[in-house]
Amino acid sequence: RLLIIDFGSQVTQLIARRLRELGVYCEIHPYQNVTDAFLSEFAPKAVIFSGGPASVFAEGAPRPPESVYALGVPILGICYGQQVMMQMLGGHVERGHGTAEFGRAFVTPAAEKLPLLEGWFAEDREQVWMSHGDHVSKIAPGFRVYGTSPNAPFAITGDPARNFYAVQFHPEVHHTPNGARLYENFVKLAGFTGDWTMGAYRDEAIKKIRQQVGDKKVICGLSGGVDSSVAAVLIHEAIGDQLTCVFVDHGLLRLNEADEVVSMFRDNYNIPLIHADESELFLGELDGVSDPETKRKIIGRLFIDVFQKHANAIEGAEFLAQGTLYPDVIESVSFSGGPSVTIKSHHNVGGLPEKMGLKLVEPLRELFKDEVRALGRELGLPDSFIGRHPFPGPGLAIRCPGEITRDKLEILRKADAVYIDQIRKHGLYDEIWQAFVAILPVRTVGVMGDGRTYDYACALRAVTSVDGMTADYYPFSHDFLGETATRIINEVQGINRVTYDVTSKPPGTIEWE
Ligand code: XMP
Repeated sequence: RLLIIDFGSQVTQLIARRLRELGVYCEIHPYQNVTDAFLSEFAPKAVIFSGGPASVFAEGAPRPPESVYALGVPILGICYGQQVMMQMLGGHVERGHGTAEFGRAFVTPAAEKLPLLEGWFAEDREQVWMSHGDHVSKIAPGFRVYGTSPNAPFAITGDPARNFYAVQFHPEVHHTPNGARLYENFVKLAGFTGDWTMGAYRDEAIKKIRQQVGDKKVICGLSGGVDSSVAAVLIHEAIGDQLTCVFVDHGLLRLNEADEVVSMFRDNYNIPLIHADESELFLGELDGVSDPETKRKIIGRLFIDVFQKHANAIEGAEFLAQGTLYPDVIESVSFSGGPSVTIKSHHNVGGLPEKMGLKLVEPLRELFKDEVRALGRELGLPDSFIGRHPFPGPGLAIRCPGEITRDKLEILRKADAVYIDQIRKHGLYDEIWQAFVAILPVRTVGVMGDGRTYDYACALRAVTSVDGMTADYYPFSHDFLGETATRIINEVQGINRVTYDVTSKPPGTIEWE
């Protein structure tokens, strides 16, 4: 296994992700925990020093223990990791006065070849992503230069005899397009064969959950979405009936959704599940409310109350499980308190653990969405479930602009089911990030048979996106749109007009509220 010593970079998890993609098992440990004893116990086959925000000149600047250099295994230092390595091995680092470098840079190779760079320089230079204030001004004895950039004469250095390498840039980020190649070469040098799998990840995760939880009880809020479902099934594998799931049904779910969630978790997986049917409460409080933010706030507040009520009834629970993913972790670290305005108050349960005095279990914290899906497959969750489009916490409330009534919800559920059925039948579901129907707060006149109708209009929405932050509308064919409109009007009583929303995000948002 490979050890990543974390010096606090925002992107340390991306290093782990690159290694997992290469089939290499790695663990990230914060530098404070990496002592001599830890190193000899861990016995890594290779070590990577991450980047980090500190300056090697700061008092108490983070360092790995000296003994790491005596392990006789390959070491790769990245950014801050490079500087700390150079400083410890006898090189010199200078404060960055005017030599700071952030963003895209181009590295050109030195004449001498290095196995670490095998196949890396596609042309005579390679794009990399820099982010540093200080810089190395003299390399340590034994090291040579293998790549330079205009502001970093020591962009790539190495001591091939000892298998120590140090780079100034971040090979793990997307803006170093060929960075994965560097990791691939590095792990080959260390003798990894790339045989690690998601199955092995699952076993490790189960072990860690057992260690953390012991014989205590865990509560998990299940939404029916992929993340909380994968977390629940994984935790159940680890600790069995010490886990109880609470599924809050706010009456704003899609057609048959509550039944599907309950039967999958209760019947298929035998997970103890409380189905909190609180639709009366939610719909009652939403009665007559049409302002989008007010709706969101009501739903968020009630959700927390209801969840707490049901969770408190589970005696002796000490842990709360959440399906937090790595992107949620970085976003909340780097953007919290930022200057952005609130477009929509997202409904989340982030404040729950403090309020309830519970400790958190977050087994997906290191993973990215596609990795969670792979883990879900590993755990036997059906593909149709794993590939599901995202569904917002406030549910159909934000797809029913204006006042919410039971009648409108009923119509919306039916129309949405027909639309999604059409998309699946045409084999388009997986090409689309998210698709749904919004029922509009207007009635329009139509003619059906020989009679006049005066029914609701609805809008179909379908977008492509990679992360939900920006989106484009999906270019359905006119045939598809025509056929779908006909089906909805024929099969759903209460709708007599269908429109297609062709707004991208920005300026629109994906949901209607
Ligand atoms: P918008 O409408 O902001 O949506 O473009 C972007 C993505 O976020 C989902 N969404 C939510 N998810 N709680 C959630 O869990 C919410 O309050 C919420 N509001 C929007 C939306 O479905 C889309 O995938």
